[in-house]
Amino acid sequence: MIKKIDHIAIAVPDIEDVARFYEEKLGLKVAHRETVPASKVRVGFIPVGQTRIELVQPDSADSPIAGFLEKRGPGLQHICFEVDDIAAELEKLKAAGVRLINETPVPGAHGTRVGFIHPKATGGVLIELSQPPDRD
Ligand code: CO
Repeated sequence: MIKKIDHIAIAVPDIEDVARFYEEKLGLKVAHRETVPASKVRVGFIPVGQTRIELVQPDSADSPIAGFLEKRGPGLQHICFEVDDIAAELEKLKAAGVRLINETPVPGAHGTRVGFIHPKATGGVLIELSQPPDRD
């Protein structure tokens, strides 16, 4: 089940460059930075009320984000919904014939498990589904 919009991701060539705009001009704060090897990206999360902006930059030349920036330039890259059971959601979508980028969960930022739905299946926007880590 989808719970909420977890974050909206923006592809940028350099997180720190764009972070200055969010921090100095909008008064927001990059609260968390992380490298996500599974996606070959470096990310910075900016809390905004109940949700967050994720700045995503390529961590290597063969990162999917490097390809995105080359083709489309910086801008909106994906929307992420929080789900309570990522494996079940991906299974359900796969069974329904929805085109997926990940048919099984992969590691995301913050210890999450995530999977992406292909933009061709969603009306043009890449959608990430994300299950938060269990809190003990
Ligand atoms: Co994301």
